[in-house]
Amino acid sequence: MRRYSRITGTGSYLPPRRLSNADLVAELATKGVETSDEWIVERTGIRARHFVADGVYSSDLALEACKRALQAAGLQAQDIDLIIVATSTPDMVFPSTACILQNKLGANGGAAFDVQAVCSGFVYALTVADAMIQSGAANKALVVGAEVFSRLLDFNDRTTCVLFGDGAGAVVLEASDIPGILASDLHADGKHVGILCVPGHVANGHILGDPLLKMDGQAVFKLAVGVLESAARATLAKARKTEADIDWLIPHQANIRIMQSTAKKLKLPMEKVVVTVDQHGNTSAASIPLALDAAVRAGQVKPGHTLMLEGVGGGFTWGAVLLTL
Ligand code: ACO
Repeated sequence: MRRYSRITGTGSYLPPRRLSNADLVAELATKGVETSDEWIVERTGIRARHFVADGVYSSDLALEACKRALQAAGLQAQDIDLIIVATSTPDMVFPSTACILQNKLGANGGAAFDVQAVCSGFVYALTVADAMIQSGAANKALVVGAEVFSRLLDFNDRTTCVLFGDGAGAVVLEASDIPGILASDLHADGKHVGILCVPGHVANGHILGDPLLKMDGQAVFKLAVGVLESAARATLAKARKTEADIDWLIPHQANIRIMQSTAKKLKLPMEKVVVTVDQHGNTSAASIPLALDAAVRAGQVKPGHTLMLEGVGGGFTWGAVLLTL
């Protein structure tokens, strides 16, 4: 009998400090940085985001999301034999945030590692975990997206600092006789490294280069719209499904206009698109599992539904996972 992987629980966590656009606009004004609620809502659909307090790291957000996912799956931390954390904001250069999380969870002993694919990180991590479960290398996995992007933002650059937020989302993925993950499709094109990056790095006891986020928003926008359509179509073809089989599209939550354009190209009404960007901003690798968990807990996404998850981000990376919940 073929071995599949299936999501059996979801969880998410947002740090308590919530900034509406009005709150952020007021904070930026004190630095002489001009922006407005109208500009942010019209160009991005974002109305609020959450930021961590000092001393809170990606592993702390991941821990809360994982506790909730484990509870939803009816499992204990000790049952987990694989942890993959997708993050671009790890707690340390090394060891991995997954190892730090594993210890905080008390799930010691299984495999644990991070995946770095920026905003596509969660679909990359889910695809790796699926392959490891299908092969028998793992049985019960926690797949997590966790970010503290607020620490990478240049609050003097209004073109980027209004876009991002912090948070974490997690799923429990278990071996199953019944198909859960149906197909996936991952890509990268490294020639676009410079359009979205944090170029700094640690060397010889110093940070070399700029450690704050740089983005060519228009270049990212154009690339994102094209690749999200092609990845969705390739994934559907691999699973021998069509757009009509999709109950919910859960795209990376970067910008409502990118989501609307993707939905239109896939001939899906916006009623079938899970949207949390308005309340979370862009939480990079955390955005898809945060949106998934919000939709599950709101009773929108239900067991038996077919979901198309889609990520796109720095690298340039992109990919999609089609699954039945
Ligand atoms: N408030 C007010 N005005 C602003 C702001 C702001 N926060 N930011 C930029 N502007 C101004 C610009 O200075 C410009 O003014 P000008 O015409 O006088 O020069 C004007 O608004 C238009 O700027 P554009 O950059 O052309 O605005 P655009 O419509 O392209 O929207 C945006 C910018 C929202 C960044 C858009 O390009 C976008 O969403 N791109 C995709 C970004 C994205 O999804 N990134 C995440 C990828 S995932 C990852 O891996 C992290």
